[in-house]
Amino acid sequence: LSRESVHLAGVPARNHLVLAAGVLGTCASSLSRVLHQGAGAVVTKSIGPEPRYGHAGPCVVVLEDGVMNAMGLPNPSRDFVEELSTLVNEPVIVSIFGGNPEEFHEVAGWFAEKAQAFELNVSCPHAAGFGAQIGTNPDVVKACTEAVKEWKKPVWVKLTPNVTDITVIGKAAEEGGADAIVAINTVRAMRISTGLRRPVLGNKFGGLSGKAVFPIAVRCVYELYEACSIPIIGCGGISCAEDVIEMMMAGAEGVEIGSAVVQDPEIFRHIGEELYAPDGISAREIVGCAHV
Ligand code: DOR
Repeated sequence: LSRESVHLAGVPARNHLVLAAGVLGTCASSLSRVLHQGAGAVVTKSIGPEPRYGHAGPCVVVLEDGVMNAMGLPNPSRDFVEELSTLVNEPVIVSIFGGNPEEFHEVAGWFAEKAQAFELNVSCPHAAGFGAQIGTNPDVVKACTEAVKEWKKPVWVKLTPNVTDITVIGKAAEEGGADAIVAINTVRAMRISTGLRRPVLGNKFGGLSGKAVFPIAVRCVYELYEACSIPIIGCGGISCAEDVIEMMMAGAEGVEIGSAVVQDPEIFRHIGEELYAPDGISAREIVGCAHV
């Protein structure tokens, strides 16, 4: 690809590679470091209406082909506004969650000045009251999107793959005024320790990410591209330049990378070196080209 600054659904990004939500938590200096290491933009850990410690451990298990987590949306809530002060004018997308449209509206309001854009987390697979109850109901997804749009910032809506038809939810986000759809959040999953005879995660159930979910993410992006008219950001198991190209061919204008950062903290520089070339073609030429 040609190395170009891009407008990713309203966000002036430095390239097509965005740090996925959650991975580097709520620490401004880690987010800043990833930007310096070549990320085109970064998404924060999801921030909600009240501070939360999250689920009891173990919260993260690294598997052969992926990562399973049940963090439980730990976050400092409104205190994160202060932390974000060091990142003004940087391409930072603030991920937010709530239990209803009013809470989404309230949390977005705290960040309306500092965020370049919002990503609505309506898709955590294991947080009672915040995840599936919201992100599997098209009317609620539409209402949450409309509520946050009142702050006049670009709104990306991150969808769960844990539904029968993801396009129903994508279309609801679009109707609510979303500027982009991010697909996908983690796949609801479980492992059991045969030695301990109990689930390995403290919360029993969690969300699977990493290479294992890449084919699911490609399928979701492909379906959403056919059903919706707003940009799609592909997320789920991307770990090399070829994965980025494949995701774009499915219909993604940009991608988010999460689990791969755990294995390689400099993944953005490494993928960027492989993906971009002085004589490369424009991304426009490949986005959606697999729709034959
Ligand atoms: O897999 C996930 N884990 N997805 C989310 O949206 C939230 C996160 C958590 O905090 O548990």
